[in-house]
Amino acid sequence: AFNLKNRHFLTLRDFSPREIAFLLKLSADLKTAKYAGTEVPKLEGKDIALIFEKNSTRTRVGFEVAAFDQGARVTYLGPTGTHIGHKESVKDTARVLGRVYDAIEYRGFGQSVVEELAQYAGVPVYNGLTNEFHPTQILADFLTMQEHVEKPLRDVAYVFIGDAANNMGDSLLIGGAKMGMDVRLCAPKACWPGQAVQEEAQALAAETGARITITEDVDAAVAGVDFVYTDVWVSMGEPKEKWAERIKLLMPYQVNAALMAKTGNPRARFMHCLPAFHNTETVVGKEIQETYGIDAMEVTEEVFESPASIVFDQAENRMHTIKAVLVATLGG
Ligand code: CP
Ligand code: NVA
Repeated sequence: AFNLKNRHFLTLRDFSPREIAFLLKLSADLKTAKYAGTEVPKLEGKDIALIFEKNSTRTRVGFEVAAFDQGARVTYLGPTGTHIGHKESVKDTARVLGRVYDAIEYRGFGQSVVEELAQYAGVPVYNGLTNEFHPTQILADFLTMQEHVEKPLRDVAYVFIGDAANNMGDSLLIGGAKMGMDVRLCAPKACWPGQAVQEEAQALAAETGARITITEDVDAAVAGVDFVYTDVWVSMGEPKEKWAERIKLLMPYQVNAALMAKTGNPRARFMHCLPAFHNTETVVGKEIQETYGIDAMEVTEEVFESPASIVFDQAENRMHTIKAVLVATLGG
């Protein structure tokens, strides 16, 4: 089998397709065991530090409940209250936490920060989202896809539409390329992933048989897909000023009923990593409505609440897949 003991989880590029498939299988097994009440704790006595320099609901609860289910303990280090990055360097923080904890999760800004933590911690480090990548999300998304279609991942087609230059665009591109899938990114050119990530995905595709399409053409991009995936138009850490320009640029890429119909696939499912701006029930949603006069952004309320929407399956699967990463890298 596979030995992932003591490995970092920083981006999916560090894992082979077979290792990713193994983590997905382990996730499904752990999910089944939890439902059946037969879960066996493999992380007793382990301590895990959870660093969050940005807010989180799913990733935090995913790590906490996964750890608790497996008998581990966690310490939540939130966006305020620690010295990290303010009064103490990443390198020093890594060496301190590495003495006290068995593993460290990091959510924050630059991918270089999580890489530096990994370099100096001496214990496994997990990327809980950076500006560039969100790899634990992709595991949850692929598990969710597997649960909703009766075919192997390599036969699955998905489109990621909207701001394809963000962490989800990069991660869905690399992840799908790794798993040999039909991966489509649909966005105006200004919101395409960087050249280096595109080339990396093409190189992976040459090995795995993945089909990669990056296009501005909505009709072509969504035709025949199994899954339509979108994400916020302005990510955490980006300035408020981006809203106006992104709304203008991305409104033609909004996931609405007409776009779902363009897939030509009545069983096409809607996916989103969440949180989503699909109504005006939030502080930010109200502010956007008052400022720009729109009541939804990347997805309409109609699609979000439709039977095609599997966003809460994805949210639940964050926990099961994070658990698999913890068990595989730390388990006895
Ligand atoms: N999808 C996701 O990472 O959600 P949180 O920001 O709530 O962790
Ligand atoms: N692109 C989003 C993803 C949130 C899970 C962000 O970085 O804010």
